[in-house]
Amino acid sequence: MSLSVSRALALATCFAASSLAASVVEWQERSIYQVLTDRFALEGGGTARCVTDDRKYCGGTYRGIIDKLDYIQNLGFDAIWISPIVANVGGFTTYGEAYHGYWAQDIYKLNSHFGSADDLVALSNALHARDMYLMVDVVVNHFGPANSSASFESFNPFNKPSYFHPRCLITNYNNQTDVEQCWLGDDKVALADVNTENLWIVTTLNRWIASLVKDYRIDGIRIDTVKHVRKDFWPLFAAASGIYTVGEVFHSNTAYVADYTYVLDGVLDYPTWYQLFPAFQTSTGNLSALAEVILKAQRSYKTGLFGSGVFSENHDQPRFASLTTDTARIKNVIAFPFIHDGIPILYYGQEQGYTGGNDPANREALWLSGYVEEKEFVDHVKTLNAARKAAIATCAEYLVTPMEFPEVTATTLAVYKHPLLALFTNVGSHGTTSWDVQGTDYAPGTELLEVFSCSKVYVDSTGGLTALSTSGQPQLYIPASAPFEHCKNR
Ligand SMILES: *[C@@H]1O[C@H](CO)[C@@H](O)[C@H](O)[C@H]1NC(C)=O
Ligand SMILES: *[C@@H]1O[C@H](CO)[C@@H](O)[C@H](O)[C@H]1NC(C)=O
Ligand SMILES: *[C@@H]1O[C@H](CO)[C@@H](O)[C@H](O)[C@H]1NC(C)=O
Repeated sequence: MSLSVSRALALATCFAASSLAASVVEWQERSIYQVLTDRFALEGGGTARCVTDDRKYCGGTYRGIIDKLDYIQNLGFDAIWISPIVANVGGFTTYGEAYHGYWAQDIYKLNSHFGSADDLVALSNALHARDMYLMVDVVVNHFGPANSSASFESFNPFNKPSYFHPRCLITNYNNQTDVEQCWLGDDKVALADVNTENLWIVTTLNRWIASLVKDYRIDGIRIDTVKHVRKDFWPLFAAASGIYTVGEVFHSNTAYVADYTYVLDGVLDYPTWYQLFPAFQTSTGNLSALAEVILKAQRSYKTGLFGSGVFSENHDQPRFASLTTDTARIKNVIAFPFIHDGIPILYYGQEQGYTGGNDPANREALWLSGYVEEKEFVDHVKTLNAARKAAIATCAEYLVTPMEFPEVTATTLAVYKHPLLALFTNVGSHGTTSWDVQGTDYAPGTELLEVFSCSKVYVDSTGGLTALSTSGQPQLYIPASAPFEHCKNR
């Protein structure tokens, strides 16, 4: 049996031997449901036409989210991530309206399309009454599109061109100076790049985030375009927020991304994402490459992957179901973040089988789904959240146990994160495959429950487990003694 000494000690004591700050630890046990505020729910539960290609506001609001908190909570989530809340530029650009919230105009006002300050506080209170957390998306790197002096005059508080880096579009992503000092966008829509070297601007932004967190009782912030701001800007900004900070560092390379885990609590783990879709999209996908990138991140990120956010979909990337219609492969991909060291994040609509491709197609209105709960992927997500919660309840050290890969073959991948064992495969719905997992530290004879099928098996005399699949479905095992109620309720 390959039982590492550190893990043996952790198992023996079953303590969470973590030195992470409290706020990160509090977030670690959560799972997050990401919504685009404009697209998640209409107040009063109505429906309205919403054509993603139009890139226009569709009418979702904070009150709409409040009305649908039962839906989110029933899925098993205990935190939500909402779109940026500040007032954005009005009007229609080549790339539509600012319905996504990433084009700030006045950081001291709210985006009135989403509701009032009272509505936002009401959302925060409604979440807290359910012991759920509120994560708000914030953008520091840029303001909205600026092409004239009138654009700058409309910005608050940075109302002059001198508060921004001189206009130049980013052309070379391998040149970090270019990435930090030049502007995102193109000739048609270029985003004014805030001069985050200016001391008054730094102080202003730090004060702003401190009041924003306090005014709206925010529990965590997701920070946009983190790699486009100098690294040493971030520690004071994070400290000023006083809460959990997770940054978007859109890059495939763990070494590049790792640096940002030293200035924020965590990153949105793009390196895992880059390997995830290709690994499961076809039966020739490379599951070793997926395991390898995770092992690299575990070694190079400040606290391993603990405290980072892990996702399979988000608003910037095509949905997995736009790349394959195979439900078994889709279920493997949906499951992966839930047995990962990071905090699982599900992008709204994945549970409803949404299939949108590149932005803006991946920003569908959820009201068009009817929020139906009797659905295959909805049930899948509920089961995954319930299993993760049962694992945490069984042993808090689950949260600080690094995931291991006791089996990696051309078409199978086993992820062991005591007390969970997940078996993945990319063979697809019509494929047959088997797993032969060795080297777990389940005691021989332990009774395990497979949470999707609700069937039971026993760990063999050497601590191993063999399993067969004729449908390409993932499998997830938890000791039958764990407080997992989902099978009983069926
Ligand atoms: C500047 O952008 C706005 C939209 O952001 C557009 O309405 C206006 O026509 C543009 N002006 C110029 C000179 O390109
Ligand atoms: C990197 O980008 C900056 C800003 O655009 C530019 O001034 C500099 O020459 C570039 N360096 C290299 C090595 O290309
Ligand atoms: C799969 O990925 C691993 C790790 O990155 C690599 O060593 C291997 O060559 C890849 N296999 C194929 C078939 O591409």
